[in-house]
Amino acid sequence: MTTSIFGRVALAAGLATAALAGSSAAQAQGNLVLYCTVQEEWCRVMVTNFERETGIKVAMTRKSSGELYAQVKAEASNPRGDVWWGGTGDPHLQAAEEGLAQEYESPMNKDLQDWAIRQWQSSKKRTIGVYAGALGFGYNTKQIAGKGIPELKCWSDLLNPKLKDEVQVADPNSSGTSYTMLATVVQLMGEDKGFDYLKRLHRNINQYTKSGAAPAKATSLGETLVGITFMHDMVTMVVEGGPVKVVAPCEGTGYEIGSMTIIKGARNLDNAKKWYDWALTPAAQALGAQAKSYQVPSNKNAPVPPQAPKLTEVKLINYDFDKYGSSAERRRLLSKWDNEVKNLPK
Ligand code: F6P
Repeated sequence: MTTSIFGRVALAAGLATAALAGSSAAQAQGNLVLYCTVQEEWCRVMVTNFERETGIKVAMTRKSSGELYAQVKAEASNPRGDVWWGGTGDPHLQAAEEGLAQEYESPMNKDLQDWAIRQWQSSKKRTIGVYAGALGFGYNTKQIAGKGIPELKCWSDLLNPKLKDEVQVADPNSSGTSYTMLATVVQLMGEDKGFDYLKRLHRNINQYTKSGAAPAKATSLGETLVGITFMHDMVTMVVEGGPVKVVAPCEGTGYEIGSMTIIKGARNLDNAKKWYDWALTPAAQALGAQAKSYQVPSNKNAPVPPQAPKLTEVKLINYDFDKYGSSAERRRLLSKWDNEVKNLPK
C-alpha cells in the first residue's frame, strides 16, 4: 500500500498571490514550444495565463503521452520542443533514461510533495511530478440499467461476458493511461495472470482509442457502457452532468505521477525554465480545476480541487515507477501486449 505517500496531501493553503514569472508583461519576451499531454482545455488555460503573465509566445502541440514520447525521441537529433508538460510519468522517465531530457533544479522544489520530488531524484533531475491521479473505471448508469449486470466494483467484474463489446480503453502504445493499466495489472496480478486478464478483457473491448481520456467521454455519451481511465477523467464527466458512476477497483489500482520535462537541446532554454518554475506554483496548479481537470497538484500549497478523487481513500498498489518507467521494461511490455493481446481474434 502506498496510500502513505499521499497521506500528507496538501492542505488547501491560500493561493500565492504572485506567480513566479511576474505580472503582465507588455512586451514580447521570445518564444516557447510546449508539448502538452493533458486535456486540451487545460493546455489552453495554461498557455493563455503564461503568455499573459510573461509576454512569452507559446506554440503548443497536444498529444497523448506515448505519442509525445515517440515524437521527442524522433526529434532527438534536431529538437523542436522546449518543454513537455503533463502526461503520465512512465514515458517521461523513459525519455530521461534515454538522454532526451535536460537536468534542472527549480527553486520551487522545496514546496513540492515527496512523490513529486522522488520522480525528480530517480530521473537524476530530469523530470518532476506536477500532479497525481488514480486509475479506475466508470460506467454509464443509464445503459447498465436493465442489463442484468451486477454492480461493477472490481477489475474482475469487467470480464463478465454480458459486457462483450461494452468496454473501452486506450491503446497503451499511444496512451499513458492505458500503459498505466497494463503495468498495474501486471503488478497487481503477476505477469502471467495479468496477461491472461488482459486477453480475456480483450473480448469485451469495443475499441482501443488513441487518447487515454477518450473512453470517459464515450461512457458519458453512452457510446460505451464502461470506460477505463484515470478516475479524475470520469469525475469531469460527472461534473458536466453525465450519467456516470466512478469506480476505484476493489482489488486495488495503480496511479500516475503526471510529469514535466525540459527537452534536451531546447532552443528556448531560458523560457523553458520560466515555464517549469511557473507551472509548479500554486497559482498555475490551480488552473487545472478551472479547466475541469481534477488531479491532485504537486505543490503542497496548491488547493486540491474538492472534486479530486481522494487518493488516501483509494486502495493503491505500490506502483514501481523505476521499473515500469524504465526503457527496457516499457518496450518489452508494449511489444508483448501488441503480440499477445491487441490482435487476438474475439
Ligand atoms: O489530462 C487527463 C489525463 O488523464 C492526465 O491525468 C494523464 O496524465 C493524461 O491524460 C494521459 O493521457 P494519455 O493516456 O492520452 O496519454
